[in-house]
Amino acid sequence: MRLPLVVGAVVLATAIAGWSWFEVTAPTWSPAEAKLIVSLSLSALPLLPSDPSNGVGDDPAAAALGRSLFFDTRLSGNGKVACASCHLPERQFQDGTPLATGMGQTNRRTMPIAGTAYSPWLFWDGRKDSQWSQALGPLESPVEHGADRTQIARLISANYSTRRYSVCCRK
Ligand code: HEC
Repeated sequence: MRLPLVVGAVVLATAIAGWSWFEVTAPTWSPAEAKLIVSLSLSALPLLPSDPSNGVGDDPAAAALGRSLFFDTRLSGNGKVACASCHLPERQFQDGTPLATGMGQTNRRTMPIAGTAYSPWLFWDGRKDSQWSQALGPLESPVEHGADRTQIARLISANYSTRRYSVCCRK
């Protein structure tokens, strides 16, 4: 009766000891491994080709506008949720929780989004094929931003409208 308990305790203690050893020991990479790791960094990728489905995709002013929108909590039903509420820049653009929470709880984990411009497919199941079509989803999802397009149109018109972008899409 006692033996299984003792064996269990020893196994547990060994696992804990092993785990803390992993946590404190910094990995050492061979020069070839280090070179491989550096080659996988986003900055090693070539420039993206133009996106024919996005007329302002290469415009720095549009990128600056997108950056402001990313952090704007007014794009939500309760005034508290922005893209950055789940995609935290200081956490590699994810939130470290098993299931994302916005206006409610989603049924999926937040994805880290750095470099997604290079992805041919987006979301865990690949159901979107461009960043702009992906971004349409969370804004009106009741468990994410919980906003609606009328509210968003009013917000943009009142706060972000410039002569340049108010006519951009009708050229
Ligand atoms: C409530 C938390 C939450 C908010 C708010 C949110 N997201 Fe996400 N995001 C997620 C989750 C969860 C997924 C994965 C969903 C899935 O696969 O169905 C995701 C996936 C993505 C992806 C796909 C990444 C990839 O590698 O395929 C992009 C891009 C993205 N979000 C951008 C945005 C933008 C832009 C906004 C704001 C308009 C936003 N998200 C708002 C939680 C959130």
